[in-house]
Amino acid sequence: MAAWRGLRRALSGGRRPVWAASLSPEERLRRLLPPERGAEEPSGAPRGESAPPPPPFRAGELALVEAPRRQRAPLRALCRLAAGAALGAPGGLLLPHDSVIGRLPGEVVRLRGGGRLLVRRPSLEEYALLMPRGAAIAYPKDISAMLLMLDVHPGDTVLEAGSGSGALSLFLSRAVGPKGRVISYEIRDDHHNLAKKNYRHWRAAWQIGHLEEWPDNVDFILKDISTAAEDMKSLTFDAITLDMISPQSALSVVHPSLKQGGVCTVYLANITQVIDLLDRIRTCKLPFLCESIVEVTHRKWLVLPAKIKNCKSSQTAETQENTEEEAHQKDYDEIHIQDQIVLKDIECNESFSDDAETYCSVPYVARPSNWQDAHSAFLTKLRKFRPLNS
Ligand SMILES: C[S@@+](CC[C@H](N)C(=O)[O-])C[C@H]1O[C@@H](n2cnc3c(N)ncnc32)[C@H](O)[C@@H]1O
Repeated sequence: MAAWRGLRRALSGGRRPVWAASLSPEERLRRLLPPERGAEEPSGAPRGESAPPPPPFRAGELALVEAPRRQRAPLRALCRLAAGAALGAPGGLLLPHDSVIGRLPGEVVRLRGGGRLLVRRPSLEEYALLMPRGAAIAYPKDISAMLLMLDVHPGDTVLEAGSGSGALSLFLSRAVGPKGRVISYEIRDDHHNLAKKNYRHWRAAWQIGHLEEWPDNVDFILKDISTAAEDMKSLTFDAITLDMISPQSALSVVHPSLKQGGVCTVYLANITQVIDLLDRIRTCKLPFLCESIVEVTHRKWLVLPAKIKNCKSSQTAETQENTEEEAHQKDYDEIHIQDQIVLKDIECNESFSDDAETYCSVPYVARPSNWQDAHSAFLTKLRKFRPLNS
């Protein structure tokens, strides 16, 4: 108490030093405290320690291999590195894992039979998009919006239903951190098992390739959420997220466990489902205000040199690029993680090459891509409130 009184006196008057008069309370407090580590460094110099360099690839880790392709997005695949294994394609072996193990992420490696690949560690977004799926995943672009809506912090406890393929669970796990908890319900045992497996594989690979552990903070529970009223009695959640058919059947069960003022997000593909949800809230007088209903749209652009190699006209180049862009979409969706992966339709001679092609002019095609990720879901943000007279 004495310390606080002294601090308050120092902040709020008494014998103030001259400099204190024109400063904000925060700045006055900062000046009274001992200097932070590195605070004496000259202004403009970066503070703190720089990040340690990433360790080289080891067996058991996930590697993302990228094959650049002319005028198309790179072809990507995930593989779990294993000594003696190889990344294969129809027609023969391509990339021995041993040529990746021991290398640093971000290096270009040579394929057996010609061509090169960029090898690096996958981001969580890339893993979620490429990992095996049972149920359709919540897309990372939507997940990032949901995390903002939910206002999830490290240390929070979050309820999720259903687990599906585990994509959202992974992002929630990262958001709540080692001191937080995610409780994820799933009604189907095949989905439950796949969500657990995807989570386990990511954690295991992370642990090998990073200096710190990925938190083990998700409880996957195989149960219909609408029958979980008893489980809910002992729990309080900072936030709830529902990605399941008929989320209204879960709302009446889970809402007593959401903290007052907390947010529940609901992920639904059809606007008619959103109407059903809101209608149930209204007719059952559930204590939720609908704060927003949004769709997250990303608009992809294409920015490419318009003239290629031997000075074809920009019109010609664009026509070719249109066709290739459409063809590419088929390739991308077919690639998933496997321990022995098949990289389909690889064209690996487009870049990373020493003998780079010479472009003779620089006008660019720069326009929205013909192929856009269109609608994925409606995100409904519900805020729990305490009704008057309750
Ligand atoms: C679209 S998937 C969820 C995908 C997940 N958010 C992800 O990112 O991977 C919907 C899941 O909800 C599950 N589900 C449906 N009704 C449920 C219920 N009453 N209780 C728990 N899970 C349920 C389904 O089995 C399905 O796996």
